[in-house]
Amino acid sequence: MPTNKKLALIIGGSRGIGKAIALRLAKSGFNIWLTYHNNHAAAQETKKEIELLGSACTLFCFDIANYEATKAVLGKITDTIVPDCLVFNAGIARDNLMVWMAKEEWDAVISTNLDGFYNIMHVLLFPMLREKRGRIVVISSTSGQIGQAGQVNYSASKAGLIGAARALAREVGKKNIYVNVVSPGVIETEMTDKLPKDKILPLIPLGRFGKVDDVASVVNFLCTEENMYIHGQVIGVNGGLAI
Ligand SMILES: NC(=O)c1ccc[n+]([C@@H]2O[C@H](COP(=O)([O-])OP(=O)(O)OC[C@H]3O[C@@H](n4cnc5c(N)ncnc54)[C@H](OP(=O)(O)O)[C@@H]3O)[C@@H](O)[C@H]2O)c1
Repeated sequence: MPTNKKLALIIGGSRGIGKAIALRLAKSGFNIWLTYHNNHAAAQETKKEIELLGSACTLFCFDIANYEATKAVLGKITDTIVPDCLVFNAGIARDNLMVWMAKEEWDAVISTNLDGFYNIMHVLLFPMLREKRGRIVVISSTSGQIGQAGQVNYSASKAGLIGAARALAREVGKKNIYVNVVSPGVIETEMTDKLPKDKILPLIPLGRFGKVDDVASVVNFLCTEENMYIHGQVIGVNGGLAI
């Protein structure tokens, strides 16, 4: 790995928004550590695209909902190499009306989106504190800010991430670690493939859905800007869906 470059760790970087963030940070000159769950083909393809941009890419495959697995994969390596930026992007949705929501649907979303945050931070935070530097960006959602029918589980997890990131910002700001949240609206990815887009579009003042690069450019700014006084903030990337 070229060692003169900074290192960005993207949690959930194989597809969609995470992939766009990984590519954008590679363009900004970062080497990339990229984690994913089980889509090996997508991860390999993203790795190839990052390498074509001249950055090194290391893949890590594990379930962020599993604390032991997270620690086993990232724990040892971060004793010696500590990422400059950490983007907590991985997340899932299991939509259903609350009245019909199965316990498994609730548990799956909370354990991936929210327990995953604990698992990742618990492994990464101490090494970052030791270095006394770093940028952390957490990907939440408009659903976590204003609530969304059919997404009580998902909205709870994404609102939880906002609270967690704000509290973390208060804990680690003095150690030169910046923590911010990026909160996308409806972005065109596999996750939003099946949404009733004709019903949602009239609610978006900009009159279009978001693109993965709309989110990636904001994350890139938060990870790279030198004149930085943004900390503990939630930055919406939603075309005006939530004003
Ligand atoms: N798309 C939107 O409109 C939208 C709006 C607001 C917020 N968001 C948030 O933005 C983030 C990315 O969304 P997206 O649409 O790009 O999602 P996506 O296309 O489904 O990609 C999800 C990424 O997270 C990884 N992942 C999922 N579950 C995981 C687990 N248990 N352990 C490890 N990695 C896991 C996936 O790995 P594999 O490829 O291996 O499955 C993949 O890299 C999510 O947190 C989502 O909630 C999305």
